[in-house]
Amino acid sequence: MRLVQGKGCILWFTGLSGSGKTTISMGVEHELKARNCLVELLDGDVIRKHLCKELGYSKQDRDTNVRRIGFVANLLSRNGVVAITAAISPYRATRDEVRRMTENFIEVYVNAPLEVCEARDVKGLYAMARSGKIQGFTGIDDPYEEPLNPEIVCYTAQETVEESVAKVINYLERLGCVLNLSEAVSLDSEIVC
Ligand code: ADX
Repeated sequence: MRLVQGKGCILWFTGLSGSGKTTISMGVEHELKARNCLVELLDGDVIRKHLCKELGYSKQDRDTNVRRIGFVANLLSRNGVVAITAAISPYRATRDEVRRMTENFIEVYVNAPLEVCEARDVKGLYAMARSGKIQGFTGIDDPYEEPLNPEIVCYTAQETVEESVAKVINYLERLGCVLNLSEAVSLDSEIVC
């Protein structure tokens, strides 16, 4: 069986806490694995337990977090991996810095209004931020700078997870990072990626 390698790329998910970055990125990862693609998910919460354990949520620490994630994503993508990142990455200039130092950078803005993220409050952190138990929480008393020209926008207050995942996969197919399923079939049951 021959592995037909697609182009590596960085799928950079950005958005508020609770916007759906992890959910969509896991859906994309699942779909790519099902197609035997080389894929790695660098989730913000996981990265902060390992690679960025000592970092907090000051602007400087968040920038360091984002730069480290960008560095690792770049190592992966230049070796043909679809590197998926899912961190808030709230500052536009820092995301753009990562974009400049990498190739095939695809910014995916996971766009849900603050009110929606707050109503979801999956981790109970918005309530803590509102009551002052947490300071400097993104969207409450720390900025989130929306992307100006993202390659993809997922409107998670309106779309289903499946629709958002499909949007991302279609984009990857068009870019040549993933072969679409009809091309895959015509390659006579080789493993395609
Ligand atoms: S980033 O700003 O540096 O990109 P990252 O995605 O790694 O953030 O971590 C965000 C997660 O950390 C949130 O989803 C939330 O669970 C937790 N968190 C804890 N404190 C904060 C805070 N002050 N602001 C945002 N998220 C926080």
